[in-house]
Amino acid sequence: TEYETILATVEGRVATITLNRPKALNAISNQLTQEVIDAAVRYDRDEDIGAIIITGSEKAFAAGADIKEMATLSFAEAYTADIFGIWERFTALRTPIISAVAGHALGGGCELAMMADIILAADNAKFGQPEIKLGIIPGMGGSQRLTRAIGKSKAMEMVLTGRTMGAEEAERAGLVARVVPVADLQREAAELAATIAGMSKPIAMLAKEAVNAAFESSLAEGVLLERRLNYACFATEDQSEGMAAFVEKRPATFTHC
Ligand code: HXC
Repeated sequence: TEYETILATVEGRVATITLNRPKALNAISNQLTQEVIDAAVRYDRDEDIGAIIITGSEKAFAAGADIKEMATLSFAEAYTADIFGIWERFTALRTPIISAVAGHALGGGCELAMMADIILAADNAKFGQPEIKLGIIPGMGGSQRLTRAIGKSKAMEMVLTGRTMGAEEAERAGLVARVVPVADLQREAAELAATIAGMSKPIAMLAKEAVNAAFESSLAEGVLLERRLNYACFATEDQSEGMAAFVEKRPATFTHC
């Protein structure tokens, strides 16, 4: 591929973006940021892609934003370029995204994992927001997404002390959907992604939009949006096919899949 810091591969309807700066434990450099977003945006627009996996190595999902690049940054440079604002292009994607996390997911790495829709964790995963030890605070959504995921007290403890959380604790706290043995992580992620990619893509996008509304709206507004999106499903061939297949006791063959 044309990428230097990631691998971008497609198998069936599943695209996988693998962070690939092994010598820097997949630290999120400017180049890696550009490449992840470029690949993810392309896959998102491709109707033949039904789910995207973002992953790293067995040792590190990503050990954070690239500290060596940030070390001499000034406020004026950071603010003017809005260096982390570009990630809004990633969080605006509508295709379901799974983070498959093994090893270190620290700082920006934990934040990137949390930008996905589902986190699948290997048993050796370690999540943390250690920014405070570097004299900064999270900048890619960590203080917000971690707090929504695990609650105020635990998020405060992690953000204020920089301590890491293992996979078991992360599952108990509701940060991750499931923990699997590290040797099985890629296979489990591929199976999960293939299951999602086997659904109607527009319907999966509506489902993602509805769940995400739980974070952005009041309960009443969220429930209203869900109901409207649900009604919209009835305008699709895939609803007709899904329900006909159930009634006829056969597997569904979706058009948009
Ligand atoms: C740049 C990094 C890096 C990072 C590791 N490396 N993390 N380089 N940025 N975030 C580099 C190391 O410098 C080293 O390169 C190589 O990767 C291997 O790392 P080691 O420390 O030798 O490995 P190990 O002893 O196994 O320790 C692993 C580790 C440790 C515990 C994950 O590397 C670590 O604490 N990293 C920093 C974690 C962190 O603070 N993350 C938050 C970053 S701030 P060399 O060339 O020296 O061998 C952040 C800000 C987010 O993310 C705010 C908005 C984005």
